[in-house]
Amino acid sequence: MTNQTNNKAKALLGWVDARFPLSKMMKEHVTEYYAPKNFNFWYFFGSLALLVLVIQIVSGIFLTMNYKPDGNLNQYHLPAAFTAVEYIMRDVSGGWIIRYMHSTGASMFFVVVYLHMFRGLIYGSFKKPRELVWVFGSLIFLALMAEAFMGYLLPWGQMSFWGAQVIINLFAAIPVIGPDLSTWIRGDFNVSDVTLNRFFALHVIAVPLVLVGLVVAHLIALHEVGSNNPDGVEIKKLKDENGIPLDGIPFHPYYTVKDILGVVVFLIVFSAIMFFAPEGGGYFLEAPNFDPANPLVTPAHIAPVWYFTPFYAILRAVPSFAGTQVWGVLAMGAAVVLIALLPWLDRSPVKSVRYRGPIFKAMLVLFIISFIGLGILGAKVATDTRTIVAQILSIIYFAFFLLMPVYTKMDKDRQVPERVTMSTARNKVMFFVYVAIAVVGSYLFAILI
Ligand code: HEM
Repeated sequence: MTNQTNNKAKALLGWVDARFPLSKMMKEHVTEYYAPKNFNFWYFFGSLALLVLVIQIVSGIFLTMNYKPDGNLNQYHLPAAFTAVEYIMRDVSGGWIIRYMHSTGASMFFVVVYLHMFRGLIYGSFKKPRELVWVFGSLIFLALMAEAFMGYLLPWGQMSFWGAQVIINLFAAIPVIGPDLSTWIRGDFNVSDVTLNRFFALHVIAVPLVLVGLVVAHLIALHEVGSNNPDGVEIKKLKDENGIPLDGIPFHPYYTVKDILGVVVFLIVFSAIMFFAPEGGGYFLEAPNFDPANPLVTPAHIAPVWYFTPFYAILRAVPSFAGTQVWGVLAMGAAVVLIALLPWLDRSPVKSVRYRGPIFKAMLVLFIISFIGLGILGAKVATDTRTIVAQILSIIYFAFFLLMPVYTKMDKDRQVPERVTMSTARNKVMFFVYVAIAVVGSYLFAILI
């Protein structure tokens, strides 16, 4: 840049700064936001969640330009909404890529958010002083589930229709108000065009607004207290003479560069799925959804999309009792609510799994097995054996949370260092060993069960 353009840019920035705190905000949240210097692989997923949020909003806007939320039959005797999606796929220029971007984005959102939440769990990022960061995160998770559920109705395929039918009917199990509540949600006695219209309104504007608002609150809360790290050491406790944390580095350029690496790798994986396997082996786009919704024909096997299956398996595992199915619904709700309560369930003085005692580590492994196992079972047709396995895994899932106040108190945690430590070669090798065990183990479980 020449001196003249440099001066002009400075003058423009001065003009803006006199009217809007742009430089102040950039300093506070980017160039002088001191983050711990020991962030690792697990710290990629926050920025990736932001990236997927943007991908979903932008691709969603373009989809809306050609989609019609109309469940009535058109001149081809097909539901107009279903035809609109086929029209986007076949006739709109670039329509197929926008649609696959959005459908792949939905699944990748959950991949990224589950890994992001798992990072919070292993490093105790939900503990004091980050309780509100976690609570906002849990609300985001809830909003994300609502967003995905309502979006899934829009293509108006068989799975859209019957999935919505099953899930909305769950509300009917609530005593006294249940039946009226489920009719109120549908706006009709059956899932119909009325339901499609309201789900469209909620999916394209109401829930995204809530989501964006919650993400802003999530980040404001995080920047107020500062980031946690793989050692769970509070870096703000030790500062130099200028008030800069001794173990902190400015977010820009260090973590902007690190996050860009994550973005590039992620986009390669994302594109590979979008171009070569957009159906995700039948898990991202389910086969029955390529048939138009038919209220008279129930698909042989109704299963929610993969990201809901752990919770769906819990729902199915709980038997009806005293003539009502409500217990399964309550258990499924509790399975989500308990996540938000983690900050108050964990009594350990230690944050990171690196310094936790053996009981927490054992419970964590059992929890991971139960969550993946339930996810696999929830996608399959229920049999007697699978129901028993799902019941055992559900008990483990709840035990992890409900017994936490006890086992975290009696556990033999290790001494946490004063300063952060950097990841060792052994840590890195062990990480790949764990990932390999998890992938191979899940695959074997899925085949065997
Ligand atoms: C749209 C979804 C979400 C977005 C865009 C998002 C974004 C972010 C970003 C950018 C960060 C800072 C970078 C990082 O630490 O990775 C962060 C931190 C954090 N997020 Fe999220 N987040 C989302 C969902 C969630 C959910 C569902 C939870 C948990 C229930 C959660 C819990 C946390 C916690 C505890 C931290 C602080 C982590 C630490 O300092 O170690 N977030 N989030």
